[in-house]
Amino acid sequence: MQLIDGKAAASQWIEETQARVNMRLSQGKPAPHLAAIIVGTDGASQTYVNNKIKACKNAGIDSTLITLPADIQEHELLHHIDDLNANPRISGFIVQLPLPKHINERTIITRIKPEKDVDGFHPQNIGKMVLQHPTLISATPLGILRLLNHYNIETSGKHCVILGRSAIVGKPLSILLSQNSKPGNCTVTLCHSKTPDLKSYTLSADILICAIGIPEYISSDMVQAKTVVIDVGTTRVTDLKQKKGYRLCGDVNFNSVAPHCKAITPVPGGVGPMTIAALLHNTLEASEQHV
Ligand code: GUN
Repeated sequence: MQLIDGKAAASQWIEETQARVNMRLSQGKPAPHLAAIIVGTDGASQTYVNNKIKACKNAGIDSTLITLPADIQEHELLHHIDDLNANPRISGFIVQLPLPKHINERTIITRIKPEKDVDGFHPQNIGKMVLQHPTLISATPLGILRLLNHYNIETSGKHCVILGRSAIVGKPLSILLSQNSKPGNCTVTLCHSKTPDLKSYTLSADILICAIGIPEYISSDMVQAKTVVIDVGTTRVTDLKQKKGYRLCGDVNFNSVAPHCKAITPVPGGVGPMTIAALLHNTLEASEQHV
C-alpha cells in the first residue's frame, strides 16, 4: 500500500504559488488578496476558514476574515458580497458553507462576481467547467486532480467510483474525471444514497473517491487490492482521549482498508491540505485576471 501524502503535495503546490506571487511582486503588481466570510459560530466551519486564512501567509497572499452573526439577514449578507465584488483590492472571496437555514445559499452564491468566485461555485463557473472552458474550478475537486497527478496515478481507461453527489465534490469530480483530459478519461460511476448494493460498485473501482460524510463507512470487504482510495470525509467524532474532545474521521475505515488497497489518502493529511492549496492557487489565478 502506498500512503498518499496530501500534506507534502500541498506544501509543494503552495511553494509554486508563492514563487508565482513573488514574480508578481517583482513586477510591481499587488499581492493577491483572499477574503473569507463566515456566518455564525459552527466550530468545524470556523476551523476550516481559519486554516484557509492562515495558509495565505505561506503563499504570500493577503487575507481578510469577515465574521458575521448567525442571525444576519440575507440582504445584509448580500451587502457584504456587493462590497467585496466592488473592492479592487480583493482578488477573490469565499462564503463558507453551510449557511444558516434562513439564508438561501443559491441567492448568495449567484451574487458573487464569477471572476472573484475562487470556490468555483457560481453557476457560470460550473457551466464553463462542464464545457471545458478556462475557469475557476472548485477547490476540493481541483485538489484531488492535482493529487492524482502528483502521484502519477493513471486515470485514463480506469473505472472511477465516486460516492456522494454533492455540488461541491461528487458532481463536479464526476464531470472532471470523465473529461478528455489529464487526469481524466475515466469511466465514472456516481453512487449516492439511493444506489442499491453499493458494495458491488466499490469492488469494481480502480479509483474510489468517498465523499458522503459518514465516518468509517467503507470497510476492507468493500475494497479490492487494485484500488486507489481517496477519502474526502472529515467528520468530527467525539473522542475524549483527544485534547480537543474529538478527532477527525474520514469516510473510510483507514486501519482496516489501508493494508489491503493499492494506495490511500489519510484523514487528516490527505485531501484537506490539497483543498486549501487549491484555494490559494485559485486566488492567484483570479488576481492574474484583474491586474
Ligand atoms: N464547506 C465545505 N467545504 C467548503 C468549501 O470548499 N468552500 C466553502 N465556501 N464552504 C465549504
